[in-house]
This record gives sequence, structure tokens and C-alpha cells, in this order.
Amino acid sequence: MIQAHSIDKSYRLPGQVIPVLKHVSLEVKQGEFVAIMGPSGTGKSTLLNLLGCLDSADSGSYVLDNETISEMDDRALAKVRNRKLGFVFQSTSFVDYLDLPDNVAMPGFYCGMSRATSRQRAKVLLRQVGLGHRLTHLPGQLSGGESQRVAIARALFNRPRLLLADEPTGNLDSSNSAEIVNLLKQLNTDGLTIVLITHDAEVAKAADRIYLMQDGVLGDMGND
Ligand SMILES: Nc1ncnc2c1ncn2[C@@H]1O[C@H](COP(=O)(O)OP(=O)(O)O)[C@@H](O)[C@H]1O
Ligand SMILES: [Mg+2]
Repeated sequence: MIQAHSIDKSYRLPGQVIPVLKHVSLEVKQGEFVAIMGPSGTGKSTLLNLLGCLDSADSGSYVLDNETISEMDDRALAKVRNRKLGFVFQSTSFVDYLDLPDNVAMPGFYCGMSRATSRQRAKVLLRQVGLGHRLTHLPGQLSGGESQRVAIARALFNRPRLLLADEPTGNLDSSNSAEIVNLLKQLNTDGLTIVLITHDAEVAKAADRIYLMQDGVLGDMGND
């Protein structure tokens, strides 16, 4: 699913170049669940943004689902994002005055699906993430764990091939965190490929494989 080879990335600020990723290589097979751990400020989110086609590398090659991402322009990248990728972050903003099905259905509105059809699909997804009893709720009425479930449901809307999650349990207590991890594991068992960034060794245990990021260098910690 992912073949990234020798990726370099620096941020350029006026009069300053900040090297972040140094010859990063990683492979993720279809159906795998991979975690990336490491101290903060070491480049994990930068890497996830590159894998998610939200930003481009300075050099190196990146093939995602048999498409050569490293040669694409911004328009093509946006297309790949919409067709193939789902994102979950540490916290997610929702539209406060829309109910959960409308919030989850956002990606459908953007690609011209009718409101009825997209709400229908959103409800199926909300049931799948365990929120079938919250279909008439507004985002402000949810716990942290429930909000992350909604974020996951929305990320699944376009049937992504790959789910990219950047510290999705970072704001949750340990029991809510465990529930989100169980949900991700379930989705993985059902066939979804997942790359997860986390500080939390307990969360990383759910993965088939763990990479460690240190000072912009990625190492493979092998199987746990
Ligand atoms: N847009 C940006 N412009 C300049 N520097 C950035 C930008 N984003 C991140 N950085 C810097 O790059 C380094 C890695 O950041 P990040 O990838 O967010 O690390 P992590 O997710 O591991 O905490 C940090 O030193 C951070 O300050
Ligand atoms: Mg980060």
C-alpha cells in the first residue's frame, strides 16, 4: 500500500532551513496496521502529512496504492486524498449546529451526493462505530471518546483504502483510548490499512508493526 523511499523534508522559513525528515523509508502492506512512535518534535506529523498527500517531500520517492505520488501536482494529490485516504487527528472540529449524520456526511456534500443518500450512509457508519444511539445528537453533546468515533465515521465516508491517524487518542483517558483502539483494530480486521501515530505504548501495541521516529530518522522496531 505504501512504499516510501529515502524521503527528505525541510521547512523553509525566512533566513532559515529546518531539516525535519532525513532519508525516511517505510513500507506498509495492504491490510497492515502500523504504528509510529517517538518523542514530540521529531517529525511524525510531518511524515503523516506527506503520506497523506497534504504536503510534498523535497526528495525521495513515494508510491501509494500503485500510484507515484512523488511526481504529482497539487490537483492530482487532492484527488488521491479524496479517493483513497481517511484522516483522524487528535481533535476534530465539527459543525456545532448540524446533527451527527450531517457532520459525518460532509464528504458526501462536497462530492455532490444528495443529502438523503449521504445521511443514509452516515447513519450506517455511525452505527458501525457504535453510535447508533446518538443519531439525533449534536457534536457538543458528546464525550471525547464519542467525538473521536464521529471523526472516524467521517474519515470512513469515502471508503478510504488507507486510514491515517495522528494521535487520535491524545486527548482521551485510558478507558476511552482503549475503546478507540479496539474500534481501529476492528476496522483493520475488516480489511482497512491503518497508519497510526501515538505517544502511548499501550495504544501502539494494537499494531502489527511499530516504527520509531527519532530526530527525523525512522527505525523499524519490528513485531511486538
Ligand atoms: N509548518 C512548519 N513550518 C516550520 N517548521 C515546522 C512546521 N511544522 C513542523 N515544524 C517543525 O518540524 C519539526 C517536526 O514537527 P512535527 O512533524 O509536528 O513533529 P511531531 O509530530 O513528531 O511532534 C518540529 O521542530 C517543528 O517545530
Ligand atoms: Mg505531531
